[in-house]
Amino acid sequence: MGHLRFLTAGESHGKALALIVEGMPAGLPLSEQYITAELVRRQKGYGRSSRMAIEQDRAQIISGVRHGVTIGSPIALLIQNRDWENWKEIMSVSPTDKEIESIAHLRPGHADLAGVIKYGFDDVRPILERASARETAARVACGAIARRFLEEFEIAIHSHTWAISGIEAKINHPLDWPRVESSPLRCADSSAEREMMAAIDVAKERGDTLGGIFQVIAFGVPIGLGSHVHWDRRLDGRIAQAIMSINAVKGVEFGEGFRMASLPGSEAHDIIQHDEAPPFWHHTTNRAGGIEGGISNGEPIVVNVAVKPIPTLAHPLPSIDLKTKGEVLAHVERSDVCVVPAAGVIGEAMLAIVLADVMLEKFGGDSLSESQRNYRLF
Ligand SMILES: Cc1cc2nc3c(=O)[nH]c(=O)nc-3n(C[C@H](O)[C@H](O)[C@H](O)COP(=O)(O)O)c2cc1C
Repeated sequence: MGHLRFLTAGESHGKALALIVEGMPAGLPLSEQYITAELVRRQKGYGRSSRMAIEQDRAQIISGVRHGVTIGSPIALLIQNRDWENWKEIMSVSPTDKEIESIAHLRPGHADLAGVIKYGFDDVRPILERASARETAARVACGAIARRFLEEFEIAIHSHTWAISGIEAKINHPLDWPRVESSPLRCADSSAEREMMAAIDVAKERGDTLGGIFQVIAFGVPIGLGSHVHWDRRLDGRIAQAIMSINAVKGVEFGEGFRMASLPGSEAHDIIQHDEAPPFWHHTTNRAGGIEGGISNGEPIVVNVAVKPIPTLAHPLPSIDLKTKGEVLAHVERSDVCVVPAAGVIGEAMLAIVLADVMLEKFGGDSLSESQRNYRLF
């Protein structure tokens, strides 16, 4: 990553999330409403906690945009945490005289134990505040800016829920994206969706949580992004890192991925075809998921992503008290039951960020029109 860079800041129950994005060319139309619409998509999904109703995220652009277009300077953005009102004492920046209860009941599956040992705390609060997936709202804001750029090149990114707790949706191509967007689980298959929702209801009743698989697909990606020449320039490696960094993601596969391991070579590869008309090259199948030798091959980029059941259980797991070392039940903080649909939206954002970065690497440009000119010439 180098042509499009970003940093986020902010604790889950702090004042706000902050984002700085550097490297976006000038002249790109961009609005707060466009970014906010993506934040809203991240907050939906059957199985989310009551916090989603409190937050209703809104993006506030601080710099880098003038009269509705980017000006080439860093884009800074704020997303206020409405919940801050309830956390002013607990998350106060200044020292406080009030007795604030510390969290010592370690939660399995979270950064709690490793985090307090690494950073030298006797309270989990400073770790969980930043380890929380609240931070991904800032990534989705950055992803929205990247997506806006990619749209100018007719690259579109979608995600859908493939499975929840082993219940698989039937995938019929082309996928019905308007149906996915209006589905409470971002699922294309309405009968699987009913089963998934019932499973979420049962898990909620039992104080349990569920994981699943989402698929994220980029359409319209040109041949030639990424490179075979070095490990850190391989596009599949870069996308895998970006998506694996999402909270609760435990597996990333391209195309047929793990299933390819059991196929003979004669059934695993995509046959190349040449056409008279643009884009001239295509493959008869897309088992590779759009990337060969670390370079985009012109087919859609298809990434399947495994999301673990989230670790905070309303019916908590047995654990250990950080101070007394005695056996306790894990700390319970208000929590979601299933986040697969939201994780899909975050997956779209991370894929958009990597693709915008490699587009800028290949085509450059300080202004959008310069990037587009270089793209057309290629
Ligand atoms: C959108 C989203 C929302 C999440 N919400 C919760 C939650 O409410 N409770 C919880 O325990 N974990 C939640 N997680 C998962 C944790 O953030 C994550 O499992 C934890 O930080 C440990 O990191 P790891 O699973 O990547 O190893 C959420 C993840 C995502 C992607």
